[in-house]
Amino acid sequence: MIDTPTRRAVLRAGGVGAGIVAAGSMLAIDRSAAETPLAATPACHDGDEATLAQTEGPYFKPSSPERVELLEAGMAGQQIELVGIVLTRGCQPLAGALLDFWQADDKGRYDNSGFRLRGHQFTDAEGRYRLRSIVPGLYPGRTRHIHVKVQPRGGRILTTQLYFPGEAHNRSDGLFRMELLMRTAKNEGWLAGRFDFVVG
Ligand SMILES: [Fe+2]
Repeated sequence: MIDTPTRRAVLRAGGVGAGIVAAGSMLAIDRSAAETPLAATPACHDGDEATLAQTEGPYFKPSSPERVELLEAGMAGQQIELVGIVLTRGCQPLAGALLDFWQADDKGRYDNSGFRLRGHQFTDAEGRYRLRSIVPGLYPGRTRHIHVKVQPRGGRILTTQLYFPGEAHNRSDGLFRMELLMRTAKNEGWLAGRFDFVVG
């Protein structure tokens, strides 16, 4: 999905307009366009602020299984592949950073007894991660979101939430922040998402 995670490549990817869905609109694209990397979110500039932290909420559970694939056979919901890079504030990709994702199912329910739709993984040598899951459902009081904790090797944990563009409830959710919007591109039967984390 992401050719090279160097800063240059990230900046170059920012110029790729095809298939990018701006907040508030959805644009159907073909499969070949989907293979074009989505623009970095946010484009990393040396010395930028770290990705905004948010509350972990009531449903985090430690000790999730290590896996990039949260999809299970028969799981309802639109499939999503979320990819991105974990970067330093100097825009250097971080290998071996931990990402721990947890989210609701398509009915807005969290699995609090088991580990359904929960999993952790580590960035590769080029700082990349890749999550395959479903688009989470809505639950009362919240817009659509995915929770994540990001921890560079030996570093501090960033806890935050990622949001989806074009969601009516983004405006009414007090936790929603534009800076935490992923970029998405709609494909036949699945959604491509991208979000790059900048950690302090
Ligand atoms: Fe939540």
